[in-house]
Amino acid sequence: MQNTFPKALNRAAMLLFAVFLIVTGSGLIGCNKKTDNKSEASKDSTSAKAPAMSPAERGKYLVTIASCNDCHTPWKMGPQGPEQDLTRMLSGHPESMKMPPPPKMNMPWMVAGAATLTAWSTPAGVAYTANLTPDSATGIGKWDETTFMLAIRNGKHIGNGRPIMPPMPWEFIKQMTDEDLKAVYAYLRTIPPIHNQVPEPIMAPPPPGMAGGDMKHK
Ligand code: HEC
Repeated sequence: MQNTFPKALNRAAMLLFAVFLIVTGSGLIGCNKKTDNKSEASKDSTSAKAPAMSPAERGKYLVTIASCNDCHTPWKMGPQGPEQDLTRMLSGHPESMKMPPPPKMNMPWMVAGAATLTAWSTPAGVAYTANLTPDSATGIGKWDETTFMLAIRNGKHIGNGRPIMPPMPWEFIKQMTDEDLKAVYAYLRTIPPIHNQVPEPIMAPPPPGMAGGDMKHK
């Protein structure tokens, strides 16, 4: 018995609150819209939803929060410190920037990155971030949606080639839903194409025991 009393009170409070919402909601909207239709007005005030995004808009949002620009857009020094060079947005490692051999690592230092964050030396070798713009000669302009999905899902270059090298975080990006990956692809089709031939990676020899294994160039 003791339990039901507060519950009943609760319900009464919620009911009161709902009535309050309907009254104030329709009152407020009434000021602007001069509508007599109370149920219509209260619906408006309680179920306002963000407008639906197009796939490309959703893709832009995902590319932003998944930090694709961090590695695929070259960084430069700006007045406030390092900033992304948006004139080269998502065009990968600049072809004009020839990298010297990577520094020799002194354990536990293991990874080195260029100032642009587009060239990386890891135990797997040297990798250059890819041109994700729709340029058909040097970007992913010729890739269809399936190729894009396969590359990310399999971690294989152009969907079925050599393994995609670190630090490209495909193991995490591949966990996007089909719909989200397709949205990312849709967005990448809409960005300005930039002609920029990214160098081939330099794969480190496979560690002992892995000879002929997965990291072999295919
Ligand atoms: C931490 C750095 C980093 C981040 C973050 C990153 N990438 Fe990459 N990405 C790379 C590197 C490095 C390569 C080149 C790897 C290689 O050549 O094997 C690459 C390659 C690629 C490729 C080409 C794969 C192929 O077939 O050769 C695609 C597509 C790609 N990234 C998409 C994305 C997308 C989409 C995002 C964000 C959701 C993203 N990347 C975020 C570093 C990154």
